[in-house]
Amino acid sequence: MSFTIAIDGPAAAGKGTISKAVAAHFGFGHLDTGLLYRAVGSRVLLGAEPAEAARALTAQDLSADGLRTAEVAQAASKVAAIPEVRQALVDFQRAFAMRAAGAVLDGRDIGTVICPDADVKLFVTASAEVRAMRRFKELQETDPSVALQAVLADVKERDARDMNRADAPMKPASDAVIIDTSDLGIDEAVALAILEIDKKRGTS
Ligand code: DC
Repeated sequence: MSFTIAIDGPAAAGKGTISKAVAAHFGFGHLDTGLLYRAVGSRVLLGAEPAEAARALTAQDLSADGLRTAEVAQAASKVAAIPEVRQALVDFQRAFAMRAAGAVLDGRDIGTVICPDADVKLFVTASAEVRAMRRFKELQETDPSVALQAVLADVKERDARDMNRADAPMKPASDAVIIDTSDLGIDEAVALAILEIDKKRGTS
């Protein structure tokens, strides 16, 4: 029987790290759905039409190089506001969610739109300042000239676009458990997530 865990939240809140750790802990598959939008965004930066790029996407495209850049992240956020793009990506995500071994999907609309019947829904968040600082430290390792203010502006711009789009905006599902990682270390955040999942596993 399948068991689906939906983990949503804004960029750099820790949902990717938590999702990977949770999937490893329970032996479930993990799909980072942001990669779907990033793969479409990167194709669009090369001149493709967004909906066509989304319809032509294959699983191999998700492991392409260069999907983690700030430029691709902004392009992903823009194509993610196009309903035809979102529609083209629904079936792939739902098929993944139904795998018999159990699945963790992380994104923005997993608990609200893609898997409204998920067994567990978590919304992982943190203040924009904390998230920008985390991203800044990551970026600084490869680019010492990066400015914190620019990273903060980038985070806020993407949040605003993802929260305010008409189709499947980022928001916690009404039955999601909110995990605020602003004052938590990675281990604490992962432990909290596992605790919430264990509660539901015990009753399902
Ligand atoms: O999680 P991420 O930063 O890799 O996501 C990149 C962009 O993709 C994000 O700004 C919004 C979009 N996205 C989305 O709209 N819905 C999802 N389920 C996942 C990502």
